Amino acid sequence: MTEAPTIVVFDSGLGGLTVFREVARARPDARFVYVADDAGFPYGNMPEEALITRIVHVIGKAIDRHAPDLVVVACNTASTLALTELRARFKVPFVGTVPAIKPACAQSQTKRIAVLGTQATVGREYTRALIREFAAGCEVTLVGSPRLATFAEAELAGQPVADSDIKSEIAGCFVEADGRRTDTVVLACTHYPLLLERFRAVAPWPVAWLDPAPAIARRVADLLRDVPADAAPPPPRIVFTSGQAPSPILARALAKYGF
Ligand code: DGL
Repeated sequence: MTEAPTIVVFDSGLGGLTVFREVARARPDARFVYVADDAGFPYGNMPEEALITRIVHVIGKAIDRHAPDLVVVACNTASTLALTELRARFKVPFVGTVPAIKPACAQSQTKRIAVLGTQATVGREYTRALIREFAAGCEVTLVGSPRLATFAEAELAGQPVADSDIKSEIAGCFVEADGRRTDTVVLACTHYPLLLERFRAVAPWPVAWLDPAPAIARRVADLLRDVPADAAPPPPRIVFTSGQAPSPILARALAKYGF
């Protein structure tokens, strides 16, 4: 009998949960292994060569151990840097997470958007190429945040972050010039949808916040459409590269995602 698919979802930390929950909704029968490279977190501040080596090593180990049918790189900082290398090294299909610049420009009424990501993601040639290719006629403001991913992890672990700190990290997204305001912000880091309600509460004016997770889930479902469903899949597993067990507060947060 053919088994339902095994899907590895990978991130530097817990931001990939925002992608995992959509993929799990699209393929609830799959066997999921979530790999959090918490020993390497945050990726946003790591030199590129060291980061490529690290990502290839951690994902390579997960492929050896779990023999997945597909790997979701649920991290923009990793995808914009290492997808090419990963695809060259491993046969398994990869679905990456890269800034959703094309749909953001298409849906913007004011043709003024912002891309909010780690400093590494917004500085990458990959992101600039997406802008050249898909943002014609649209003003794009790149906002690199050094702290938001860490804030998202802190909140999940029960350490509250002040509104003023969140507000200052997103302030650069809100541009008003030539009578046009930013109306769409691309969430170009998978940690940020974890803070979405906080962003909405402190934003100087309402905008559409674009979370790419539903589109990623559709892509995964499409690639695995021929793999049959399993009526009784095992519960998802989570692996931390630090080897540390989550605190009781974090364990409660993870339970909400089914772990
Ligand atoms: N979740 C990651 C992303 O989508 C990055 C967080 C980090 O490790 O800096 O970019």
